[in-house]
Amino acid sequence: MPVSVRELAYTYGQGHLARKVLKGVTFDVADGEVAIITGPSGSGKTTLLTILGALRTFDEGTVVVNGVSLQDQPTAELLRIRQRIGFVFQRHNLLKSLPVFENVESGLHLLPESDTEMNRARAQAMLSAVGLGDRGNDYPATMSGGEQQRVAVARALVRMPDLIIADEPTAALDSKSGRLVADLTRDIAGKLGCAVIVATHDERIFDIADTRLHMEDGRLVKL
Ligand SMILES: Nc1ncnc2c1ncn2[C@@H]1O[C@H](COP(=O)(O)OP(=O)(O)OP(=O)(O)O)[C@@H](O)[C@H]1O
Ligand SMILES: [Mg+2]
Repeated sequence: MPVSVRELAYTYGQGHLARKVLKGVTFDVADGEVAIITGPSGSGKTTLLTILGALRTFDEGTVVVNGVSLQDQPTAELLRIRQRIGFVFQRHNLLKSLPVFENVESGLHLLPESDTEMNRARAQAMLSAVGLGDRGNDYPATMSGGEQQRVAVARALVRMPDLIIADEPTAALDSKSGRLVADLTRDIAGKLGCAVIVATHDERIFDIADTRLHMEDGRLVKL
């Protein structure tokens, strides 16, 4: 099971400023499963995703990702866990000064098996998979928002992660580009057999989900 969460609680701040945003969250996501998390703004979706991605530590509950408990891990181990995860964010965070190839290859950096020639071949294969096989030498600024987000998907998937975490990946896109990004994420993740967790308000992509989860004031319910 790539993701197993039990009674996870999370509080921002301390003392009279403390704000409890996750309250006993429990769920699992299986290999190859696509789970969509919906819920109002401020309900805790991004907070949950950053904890699952080993980008934020927590105090209460258990979170197991790819068989490893995230609690009390040293920084080096958290880094290793993050390398097995592909991230896609609303704002794609591509590096403007680097061509598309190098942006995609940045998803491979730090992987132990990484070597330059193989990285380029893998980046090319992944760009072709997202329909941008001929754009590797272009710079992000010369691409549309949807194309840039497809590059971000290629960057997340090129490392062949066990888990994809996407936070509002289609929020900034028109419906056609959003559809394409969602379908590509689903198809490639399906081929790689990795689990996908997407937080989204975008009803247009709900249909890619095997499982719908709904966050309401820090509590998660299955729909
Ligand atoms: N760094 C922070 N410090 C304090 N409070 C925070 C911080 N980040 C988020 N919060 C609060 O935690 C709650 C949950 O925020 P979160 O970003 O997880 O919500 P969300 O469900 O992703 O919302 P949205 O749909 O708007 O992206 C909100 O009330 C927010 O104000
Ligand atoms: Mg959010």
